Amino acid sequence: MSGPAPKTIGGYEVEREIGRGGMGVVLLARQPALDRAVVLKSLRRECADDPRLVARFEREAQAAGSVRHQNVVAVHDCFGWRGCSYICQEYVDGTDLAAALGRTRIEARIAGLIALELTRGLEAIHAAGIVHRDLKPANVLLGRDGAVKIADFGIALDDSARALTQTGHSIGTPHYMSPEQLYGERVDARSDLFALGVVLYEMCTGMPPFEEDDEAEDGLIRRIEAQRFPAPRALEPRVPRALSRIATRCLRAKARQRWESAAALRAALERHLGSPTSLEIRGEVARWLRERELVEVRDRETVAAKPAVPVARRRYAARLGWAAAAFLTLAIAALGWLFATDTLDRALEQIPDAAARTAAIQASSTRLTRAFSEEAAAVSSVDPNVESALSPLPTQP
Ligand SMILES: Nc1ncnc2c1ncn2[C@@H]1O[C@H](COP(=O)(O)OP(=O)(O)O)[C@@H](O)[C@H]1O
Ligand SMILES: [Mg+2]
Repeated sequence: MSGPAPKTIGGYEVEREIGRGGMGVVLLARQPALDRAVVLKSLRRECADDPRLVARFEREAQAAGSVRHQNVVAVHDCFGWRGCSYICQEYVDGTDLAAALGRTRIEARIAGLIALELTRGLEAIHAAGIVHRDLKPANVLLGRDGAVKIADFGIALDDSARALTQTGHSIGTPHYMSPEQLYGERVDARSDLFALGVVLYEMCTGMPPFEEDDEAEDGLIRRIEAQRFPAPRALEPRVPRALSRIATRCLRAKARQRWESAAALRAALERHLGSPTSLEIRGEVARWLRERELVEVRDRETVAAKPAVPVARRRYAARLGWAAAAFLTLAIAALGWLFATDTLDRALEQIPDAAARTAAIQASSTRLTRAFSEEAAAVSSVDPNVESALSPLPTQP
């Protein structure tokens, strides 16, 4: 029996709402032609009457669409449908950093890894000549596979689009904004590094550096200019000194005193974290998300899953498993042959005492079994699946 026909928007089948902002809603949908989940971000009809807002929305799509990077949400399409505008983008199945921060403390290592991935994303955004201007936890998506992606180019600016800069007037989220952005001055890439510093500080300590009750923007700016914020290690002593220094250098009031570029910040984070690849970071972040139950565990994923064994080692383990099985088969065949040709009998006849004969047979059998057990142990220490595959085989005489 089929249910009611799904609501469609421009050919996409809408499943449910997953987010709601000031300008519209964010919908989870399916693209039937490619049988994939996508996200439709809409601009509300009221907003669609304002040409400036429509222009800004289109610019959001263009800005996000011009960056192709694994740490930036990919935009597939931008279209109008029944008087509303939509951006179609990749669906990041997981959670966002704001939701994660609301539910758990983030240990310094994971905070550093997430910051490194964000810096790599920012590097690509800046290389495309774009300043994001709204980096904050709600705009950081964490995939259940451990992917870290920058979303929401709603107020991003590219080099050729100065018209939307309103001098003396700022848009964005005050607690994450650089003083130059709060003043409504010209911003550059280093403004995003300030926001990244706020996000890193909040991940490490559980709160943003400049207090929540600083609603008056000039109060906030004064605090930033006076660098009045608790040292990260005063709030969370387990934050490594190096990571604390990296974060606070992002928070300098003067842009020229911060890291000079996302590349410089990335290099500092990589030095501190031991240059993990994005693949390794994915693994660590995915495990952390599952352990903290920030994403539900599905299928064969388990919370207590051991660190992933690299593919090359798994292949080696599988080969070793086959080798062990082949060894055992050959050993049994050899033993059978010895018996069949009476070789063993004749050898045993040389031993006059019956008890000594029995001991010799047992010793030979034990030697064979031990050799096999050692092979199996070596294999199972590399891959537990091999152990379970081999367990029906005898290990004791
Ligand atoms: N591509 C996506 N995949 C999964 N969730 C998303 C995606 N885009 C947005 N979201 C969710 O919707 C929320 C709002 O989306 P965002 O693009 O930030 O819109 P807004 O401009 O309204 O802030 C995000 O905080 C996130 O929780
Ligand atoms: Mg947002």
